[in-house]
Amino acid sequence: MTTLADTTKKVVLDPDTIPSVSIDFMNNTHFEEIALVQDIGDLISLYQESKMYTDEGAGSKVAKKIARLLHQWLEHTKAHFEHENELMEEYQFPAYAVHASEHDVAYAGMQDVVQQWDSHQNIELLSNYIFQIWPKWFSEHVNSMDMITAQYAVMNGFNLNL
Ligand SMILES: [Fe+2]
Ligand SMILES: [Fe+2]
Repeated sequence: MTTLADTTKKVVLDPDTIPSVSIDFMNNTHFEEIALVQDIGDLISLYQESKMYTDEGAGSKVAKKIARLLHQWLEHTKAHFEHENELMEEYQFPAYAVHASEHDVAYAGMQDVVQQWDSHQNIELLSNYIFQIWPKWFSEHVNSMDMITAQYAVMNGFNLNL
């Protein structure tokens, strides 16, 4: 059954548009991350609605929930990037520096956004990052760096059956 909430839901990133790479642990991490960011996106929409009705009390509760999820997301991303960096090191991926530096830049950007939210709760800034900047970055990154890293590791002996 389609409800009003379903039809108006703002989608951060459709998981079907993200290509599968050759290594499952990477795919699983990517899907987990998309789900987590969608939860943040849903809270952003809720926060914007509560502000629309000037319900400050509800707004501040949602703001705290957003903060909690943002910090959870930072942790998830940190583990995600570290795991891929380790894979690259193990298989001596030649473009390690390029891939790892994309991780560093993205992680620093996320830290900024989370700190901004912790101190100012600027919903437009956060919304722009979650619905515009991050999905674009994530799609491009998976489609390029993650894709070739996984291919390289598999070609160089990564055991797909483990
Ligand atoms: Fe990744
Ligand atoms: Fe990556």
